[in-house]
Amino acid sequence: MTSDTENTHRLAILFSGEGSNMEAIIQALHQKPLSSGQIIISSVITNNPNAGGIARAKRLGVPCHVVDHRSFSQREAFDLALTEMIAPYDPTLVILAGFMRILTPVFTQRFRTINIHPSLLPLFKGAHGIKESYNSSMQVAGVTVHHVNEELDGGEIIMQKAIEKIPGEDFAEFKSRIHALEHRLYPAAILKILEQN
Ligand code: GRF
Repeated sequence: MTSDTENTHRLAILFSGEGSNMEAIIQALHQKPLSSGQIIISSVITNNPNAGGIARAKRLGVPCHVVDHRSFSQREAFDLALTEMIAPYDPTLVILAGFMRILTPVFTQRFRTINIHPSLLPLFKGAHGIKESYNSSMQVAGVTVHHVNEELDGGEIIMQKAIEKIPGEDFAEFKSRIHALEHRLYPAAILKILEQN
């Protein structure tokens, strides 16, 4: 017989900004029953005390912790503090949702971690991926969910979706179509991973 803990997929979500992906994941997956067990968003954490997503988490009734990276002079020290904050929740999966810090092995070797990136990886890695994708001569753009390793936006791809570019579309409109795609793709990719296990 398995215990309740074994039958729960506990997700930790990390974000730095608006938290719209965090909200989409909570709305789609929190308390969702799967054949392998219920999904629980057990912790939500930001490195940015001014993140807009803090108010979203509060509105959704999910407690949000802040670990301010500016309190640490070394990346590893920040990653250790983050690890210690998350560890008691014993997450089965850590979800990076607009988390704008590069994580060291102190973190990535401790937790199974995935990320979403607003381009068709391996194209346009890094913090300006969405702008570079918009400015490129390509006729398609898209979104990628991938495993996190030590290489920036370099882990194995889990799910990817492309959209056609619309001639004359301005950056704000393009960005909002990419975000809408992210909000659908990320919960689907998380379900895919949980159901494979
Ligand atoms: C998303 O476009 C994500 O792909 C990128 O940062 C953005 C975060 O948006 N890494 P939000 O905070 O989820 O609204």
